[in-house]
Amino acid sequence: MRFETPDKAAADQARHLGDVISPISGGRVPRHVAIIMDGNGRWATQRGLPRAAGHRAGTENIRRVIERFSDHGVEYLTVYAFSTENWSRPRPEVNAIIRLLDRFLRRELENLDQNNIRLRHFGHIEPLPGWLQERVENAIAQTADNTGLGLNICFSYGGRDDLVTAVKRLVEDGIPASEIDESVISERLYSAGLPDPDLVIRTGGDMRVSNFLLWQCAYSELYFTDSYWPDFGREDIDIALAEYGRRKRRFGGLGDESK
Ligand code: FPP
Repeated sequence: MRFETPDKAAADQARHLGDVISPISGGRVPRHVAIIMDGNGRWATQRGLPRAAGHRAGTENIRRVIERFSDHGVEYLTVYAFSTENWSRPRPEVNAIIRLLDRFLRRELENLDQNNIRLRHFGHIEPLPGWLQERVENAIAQTADNTGLGLNICFSYGGRDDLVTAVKRLVEDGIPASEIDESVISERLYSAGLPDPDLVIRTGGDMRVSNFLLWQCAYSELYFTDSYWPDFGREDIDIALAEYGRRKRRFGGLGDESK
């Protein structure tokens, strides 16, 4: 690992929170970053291009974002590619985004695998065409033993739907009410076994959560930027992580000031 000398206070706080110390900046970085990739359409319109061109540029941006977060030592990256509500967009746009999922997997899978990245899918796979379901399942299987960065692609995903699906599973599992606690629910979400996001980033200027990881974001730090997703690059990532490093996380407690 390319650790530079982090300052001791940052290192102590990182240990306390379960954060890591960035090999690049030496600051605390989140273990898990989740991203609402917004602004593709406006990025394209600004350039006189069709919206689908914005989604294509946005898909290409995922690779460089993975690289930068990975360089910082982030362990999990969850990207919101297509929500349950996005099915209501005009069919040509929906089709274009579905094709981009295929293109992303075809172009990036070998590279992801060689970089020890483990792919997971959050959401309902069933509405996708059969051949694409198969491609997604194969990609997940191919990378299942990888131990590096965990890349979670939310596609046909909604936070409320995640909870509804978990509740259905626990009813199917015959769990009595007396045994239901937070872990019983967490274990049945798409994110089962993963740490909650420490940092949620939304590009594109809007400040809302849009049905993303509603349960998992209970104590996430939120970061909003005006950059459109295709423009969100290395420098923006470094700025977001620097901001995260300055946040005081209290998880509903009083934090260190109380001592
Ligand atoms: C929001 O921008 C973005 C989406 C609804 C789709 C995001 C999809 C990708 C980045 C590509 C798919 C990725 C994979 C891995 C398949 P918007 O269209 O709402 O932009 P706007 O707010 O400017 O209109």
